[in-house]
Amino acid sequence: MKRLLSIISLLCIIGFSSCKHELIYPDNTDNTNNNGNNNGGGNNGGGNNGGGNNGGGSSEDTIVCFETEILPLFQSSCAMSGCHDAITHEEGIRLYTYSGIMQEIVPFQPTEGDIMESITDNDPDKIMPPPPHSPLSATQIALIEQWIMQGAQNTTDCAGSACDSTAFAYSVDIVPIMSTFCNGCHSGNFPSAGIVTSTHAGLSAIATSGSLLGSIEHVSSYSAMPKNAAMLDICNRTKIKKWILAGAPNN
Ligand code: HEC
Repeated sequence: MKRLLSIISLLCIIGFSSCKHELIYPDNTDNTNNNGNNNGGGNNGGGNNGGGNNGGGSSEDTIVCFETEILPLFQSSCAMSGCHDAITHEEGIRLYTYSGIMQEIVPFQPTEGDIMESITDNDPDKIMPPPPHSPLSATQIALIEQWIMQGAQNTTDCAGSACDSTAFAYSVDIVPIMSTFCNGCHSGNFPSAGIVTSTHAGLSAIATSGSLLGSIEHVSSYSAMPKNAAMLDICNRTKIKKWILAGAPNN
């Protein structure tokens, strides 16, 4: 990755226009100063639809929750099998724990670590996650950038992002859960196990077959999901369960 970056920086120096990343440089480490237009990098290439923000309603000054908003994104989009997981760790990079992720990040300075560069790269040969995986959405990139600008804290006390288990509409409640925890592996041209969680058709198919509930509840006859990551919290599992019981509507 370091080698890759030096090549990228070299190209930048020579003046390649593909290196335009519209990141905001905080001019000090005071994170009250982050209200600029930080809509993340230029890449919103599709695939993943919408909200990386899992129920929290994350505005500019809301502290991003590492445990519930950032870690699952890395685990589903970067730590999938064959990439930066516990077994493979391509190029020595391990993106499935806080300490592993911090190797690639400089707190408060999104442009310094390798992460922002690689998730916003315009070059299809360099962007992470690489094809056939879907790139992160603009919302997810902005969330990661916001988290770095807030100091890339290992925030696990996330009471602020209260989850309401009585709300379980597909578009507002279920889609963001999938996009944070599942779509990194289950979308794009070659979704894991042929299962697509990023569309209503794909998700309702596994809702109906029973494998969605079985996998998130860690029923022994199913593969436990999200794979190689913590079980979804009770609130998110309850939302999904209620949505399935309601007939998995496209609402
Ligand atoms: C890191 C990649 C990854 C993530 C993240 C992930 N999956 Fe999977 N999923 C897989 C793979 C690979 C399989 C094939 C079975 C296996 O290898 O365990 C699979 C299988 C499944 C199955 C079939 C299980 C069975 O036993 O029939 C379902 C349903 C499923 N995933 C749903 C989900 C849901 C819902 C999420 C999010 C909460 C999720 N997955 C997150 C990689 C992933």
